[in-house]
Amino acid sequence: MKSTTRIAIIGPGKVGTAIGLLASRAGWPVVAVAGRNRRRAARAARAIGGGARACTPAQAAAAADLVLLTVPDGSIGGVCDALAARGALAKGAIVAHCCGALGSDVLAEARRGGCSVASMHPLATFPTVRSALETLAGTYCFIEGDKPAVAVLRRLARDIGCTPVAIAPSAKSLYHAAAVTACNYLTALMDAAVALARSAGIPRKVAWRALEPLARATLDNIARLGPQKALTGPIARGDVATIAGHLKATNAVTADLKGLYKSLGKWTVGLARRKGTLTAAKARKIRKLLEK
Ligand SMILES: NC(=O)c1ccc[n+]([C@@H]2O[C@H](COP(=O)([O-])OP(=O)(O)OC[C@H]3O[C@@H](n4cnc5c(N)ncnc54)[C@H](OP(=O)(O)O)[C@@H]3O)[C@@H](O)[C@H]2O)c1
Repeated sequence: MKSTTRIAIIGPGKVGTAIGLLASRAGWPVVAVAGRNRRRAARAARAIGGGARACTPAQAAAAADLVLLTVPDGSIGGVCDALAARGALAKGAIVAHCCGALGSDVLAEARRGGCSVASMHPLATFPTVRSALETLAGTYCFIEGDKPAVAVLRRLARDIGCTPVAIAPSAKSLYHAAAVTACNYLTALMDAAVALARSAGIPRKVAWRALEPLARATLDNIARLGPQKALTGPIARGDVATIAGHLKATNAVTADLKGLYKSLGKWTVGLARRKGTLTAAKARKIRKLLEK
């Protein structure tokens, strides 16, 4: 065993199962898995292996040195309070959650009972357990909380292949807004691009197949060159007439879609100014069109 810190996973979903399995593979003893449904907890325990057993949340917490609450965000505080009220959290135990937006203060009842608390957010997207297992290694893991808990979680993050990074609890909401923008809004943006192409009469399948390589090449360019150098197109070129044409054409689509085009256009004007290819006069003209 690489570590003697016994882990309990409470919340046998995508994140709990993936972190449990990777921790177990890395030589951390995952001793217990619990959720609201025993059958689902047993399935996760089997997937994690290494002797992990399914039990109730109180039994799982009592058996562990590190209690990972991988339940939905809205349930973290309630699950922690219930465990503390039942006396299931041993003094000195570590209690942590994996939510991006909440700080460790949501675990105040555990801290009051003598536990060391923290939050540990892997900056990754897990639509399924399988994709989590494939993509977690190499991602960044943002950690904050009490010193003893943070020290252990930094080791755990490294052992499951992540790079640990410190974050202030007060910064978590804005940090999470950044994550949502890069991940969920990118998904929504591609959906909006397909919707615009559909309005132009292009079949959905063709639209997606045509737009996907464009998006991939753009992300590669951003990674290689940074957003300023990667930016191309009519706003970077100061092509006012083309933007006016787009706006006229988007009268035919929903107000939400047109609003999205305009908002992103305004941000792109700022980026093009920083790039240095858009003059102040043309920036004013394009901004005026986008704000109309
Ligand atoms: N998915 C992502 O991309 C991602 C990325 C980074 C961080 N996170 C964070 O990771 C945490 C878990 O997210 P997830 O995507 O793994 O969610 P999930 O797949 O829905 O899993 C949540 C699990 O919690 C259990 N659960 C729900 N209420 C419970 C309760 N009151 N007591 C005990 N167990 C309960 C559910 O199991 P039962 O229904 O069987 O009880 C379910 O298996 C969240 O804080 C989320 O913000 C998610």
